Amino acid sequence: MCGIVGYIGEKQALPIIIDALKRLEYRGYDSAGVAVLVDGSVEIIKTAGKIRALEELLSSRSISTTMGVGHTRWATHGEPSTANAHPHCDCSGRVAIAHNGIIENYLSLREELQAKGHRFTSETDTEVIAHLVEENLRDGNLESALRSAIRRLQGSYAIVAMNQEEPERLLVARKDSPLVIGLSEGANFVASDIPAVLPYTRRVYILEDEDIGIVTREGITLSNEGGDPVSREEFAVTWDAEEAEKGGYEHFMLKEIHEIPRAIRDTMRTRVTDDNRLNLEEIKLSEEEIRSLDRIFIIACGTAYYAGCVGKSIFERLLRIPVEVDIASEFRYRNPIFSENSLAIIISQSGETADTIAAMREARRGGVKALGIVNAIGSSIYREADCIIPTWAGPEICVASTKAYTSQLIALYLIALHFAQVRGRLSVEEVACLLAEMKHLPEQVQRIFDREDKIAALAEQEELKQCRDFFFLGRGLDYSASLEGALKLKEISYIHSEAAAAGELKHGPLALITKGMPVMAICVQQELRGKMLSNIKEVAARGAHIIGLVKESDSETEKAVAEVIRIPENDELFMPVLTIIPTYLLTYYLSKALGREIDQPRNLAKSVTVE
Ligand code: F6R
Repeated sequence: MCGIVGYIGEKQALPIIIDALKRLEYRGYDSAGVAVLVDGSVEIIKTAGKIRALEELLSSRSISTTMGVGHTRWATHGEPSTANAHPHCDCSGRVAIAHNGIIENYLSLREELQAKGHRFTSETDTEVIAHLVEENLRDGNLESALRSAIRRLQGSYAIVAMNQEEPERLLVARKDSPLVIGLSEGANFVASDIPAVLPYTRRVYILEDEDIGIVTREGITLSNEGGDPVSREEFAVTWDAEEAEKGGYEHFMLKEIHEIPRAIRDTMRTRVTDDNRLNLEEIKLSEEEIRSLDRIFIIACGTAYYAGCVGKSIFERLLRIPVEVDIASEFRYRNPIFSENSLAIIISQSGETADTIAAMREARRGGVKALGIVNAIGSSIYREADCIIPTWAGPEICVASTKAYTSQLIALYLIALHFAQVRGRLSVEEVACLLAEMKHLPEQVQRIFDREDKIAALAEQEELKQCRDFFFLGRGLDYSASLEGALKLKEISYIHSEAAAAGELKHGPLALITKGMPVMAICVQQELRGKMLSNIKEVAARGAHIIGLVKESDSETEKAVAEVIRIPENDELFMPVLTIIPTYLLTYYLSKALGREIDQPRNLAKSVTVE
């Protein structure tokens, strides 16, 4: 998400840090800052907005320094603002910290530190690290202070720290958030991503979890959290800068699909405790308000709308209250009927989609509270909605949404379970069982990745490469996943693709099924399996080339299809998170085989800010 850069060497540090930060701009960010040593004191210069704004601030100064830390922030805790931009410092201003990741227990740490007299100047989780270090810096040793501080942290972090009393070193630490050290003659670098350092060096150490490092001009010392020395193999980067931005993947789409397990974990993190209890205090709806809800509207566009289609089934199943799911551009002109106790759930990756914003305003004008599920912190929907559940997918670069969709599903599940618990439809124990199942999802997505070669090989089949039309079939939740699968395929491969509710086939779409036409049949809902099997046979009888997405234990459906992709089993509520993965991978490999512009499909933009 955010970008970190550190430099210690013989040259002027600021131009190098700014240049390296610019190389991380592709990841998206909303503010930027640097911490440098000027005349023996730490000085932090930071601003909301782009690196250009930071450069303007710096241009009025003539700072000479050979060591510093830079950061670009993608807001998580607290809106994009100068105060929330990194680096952050302790009360004394001696220590500067840049951090990527999420500190889950920051609120309790903040309270504890405030009680001890520490003064906070931002809303960020990161700032607790600076004050924790200060608390432990009594003997003046940054390494031991950082070591003590990170023992108190729960969550993920890549940290770069500097202390004005130790002008010859940068301290680094990582857990569940990437950090690399770039090695060169007379200078060393730290970065959250390899592209930042590529113009300066191709020799890097990729840090592992719990590594702590001291980076000086002359060298690197690495140890584990216990203080024992560790060594990491030097890695020679052979990719060019563009490839490196994609983390070694050929396209952002594939990289972002592979980030889905991490995005699911992050979206659940802090909201699901170790003993599977829900913690959704961030929904600022009182229990009374949740209990009195009598209607829910889910409103969004495109992929976010299809996440909403899954949401409708889940909310209706778990809450037994009516849910209407609307395309935002339709909602805003259809004069919807609100009840006194309606809630509007607004879903958007960018938080800037014009129709979705207008629909949200329409609902709020009707007296309905808006709960936003938004990926871009600080966006219009984030700011205007009455309450927000952020998805922690991280910046999505590919125009087509993938990891944002699965994170939106996770947010919808968490909200639905929370509401069901508050309304007494599920006990705390029942919710805990479902959350325990949800926690398997990242590892199960990973298991589907293990079948990626097979999916890539399918995409090379002539039936698929030559086809003009492609059908997706499903019932119930499988139909909702089909809708998203069909959108993705048409968007990137330019193959005409449609999703049909399998029960509707005989009412029209069956007329289009011809010999050899590819059909992806999603069939993982036990109750509907018999019906779905009949539909599969109907299209098979017309010569369709059927790819079945079936549960690992379902040998019967497997026999009825030409190709099978097995899906690990979870509670059926959560299966759309898994069934969507092969559709994304097939779309990717088929579009690649057809030579399409995968990350930037024709005629489409990432953020649709006009009607
Ligand atoms: C499809 C896709 C779009 C977006 C839609 C809404 O892959 O990305 O359909 O889902 O434009 O965008 P957000 O979620 O930003 O409101």
